[in-house]
Amino acid sequence: MKILLFGKGGQLGWELQRSLGPLGQVVALDFDSEDLCGDFTNLPGLAQAVRIVQPDVIVNAAAHTAVDKAESEPELARIINALAPSVLAEEAKKLDAWLIHYSTDYVFDGSGDRPWQEDDATAPLSVYGRTKRDGENLIGLTDCKHLIFRTSWVYAARGGNFAKTMLKLASERDQLKIINDQIGAPTSAELLADITAHAIRIARYQPELGGLYHCVAGGETNWFEYARLVFEQARLAGRTLSVSEVLPIPTSDYPTPASRPLNSRLNCDKLRKAFGLHLPDWQAGVIRMLAEHLGSGQ
Ligand SMILES: NC(=O)c1ccc[n+]([C@@H]2O[C@H](COP(=O)([O-])OP(=O)(O)OC[C@H]3O[C@@H](n4cnc5c(N)ncnc54)[C@H](OP(=O)(O)O)[C@@H]3O)[C@@H](O)[C@H]2O)c1
Repeated sequence: MKILLFGKGGQLGWELQRSLGPLGQVVALDFDSEDLCGDFTNLPGLAQAVRIVQPDVIVNAAAHTAVDKAESEPELARIINALAPSVLAEEAKKLDAWLIHYSTDYVFDGSGDRPWQEDDATAPLSVYGRTKRDGENLIGLTDCKHLIFRTSWVYAARGGNFAKTMLKLASERDQLKIINDQIGAPTSAELLADITAHAIRIARYQPELGGLYHCVAGGETNWFEYARLVFEQARLAGRTLSVSEVLPIPTSDYPTPASRPLNSRLNCDKLRKAFGLHLPDWQAGVIRMLAEHLGSGQ
């Protein structure tokens, strides 16, 4: 099997390079790859890259993920999050290849407290959410074989993440205020990458499994509780933190250019059943990532 991976340098792309390795030959590209185009602003170049590689599976981990920045560059976000995936889908269709793509809880408006299901109506609150939703729809329109995984609150051991930012702030300040009314599930890029490899193996022989799936770690939390777990783990690992007071605040006290959904719960029953998966609780991945980070003395 030949796999063409886009966005290899991102949180998820990095983990996919590992998890897809045992499935076949992986051609991994980034926006500045030299031999083949991996730049999502160059749509003809992307199509050409697919035609040259002739993959059995295209995996798209590239995206415009700067949620606040997207508010001031909506056209760029549209090209990267909607038009480029659509080009990949059209090329996949011509080759009868699979397209694996990722989307987000931000396609929903965050109302209510029920976990969202795949067929619930979307109503994004931000440019990022809207362009990701448009990407999903455009892929669907091409009728290529595809898997789209909607996920949330992605973090990875490599690069920056919420937990590392909290640790830094907690060693510099004595008081922190953290949002406690956005509810979701922190999901590791490692878990997403492993699930992707598992799903590709199964879907290749059961094409009827193609479609849209919610895919997040088990359980739910908010950013305040997430940060508390991070501080607890840091102290257990012997870190000295200067923070003495951690206060919960509502989203309305922390205005950002892009609005974020309050209810980011995603119901993953469809994914569990289709692919026979167990989704470990979110704490397991965060504790593992912190063990690596804190153990490395960073
Ligand atoms: N991060 C989250 O919390 C989250 C939540 C829900 C869903 N998702 C979805 O999950 C998927 C993976 O996200 P992630 O967390 O791995 O994001 P990420 O770490 O930001 O990775 C995205 C990658 O896309 C690259 N990219 C940006 N502009 C590009 C362009 N013009 N051409 C080619 N590549 C470009 C980025 O490069 P640079 O870093 O150099 O810009 C980066 O390597 C995305 O579809 C995202 O929408 C993420």
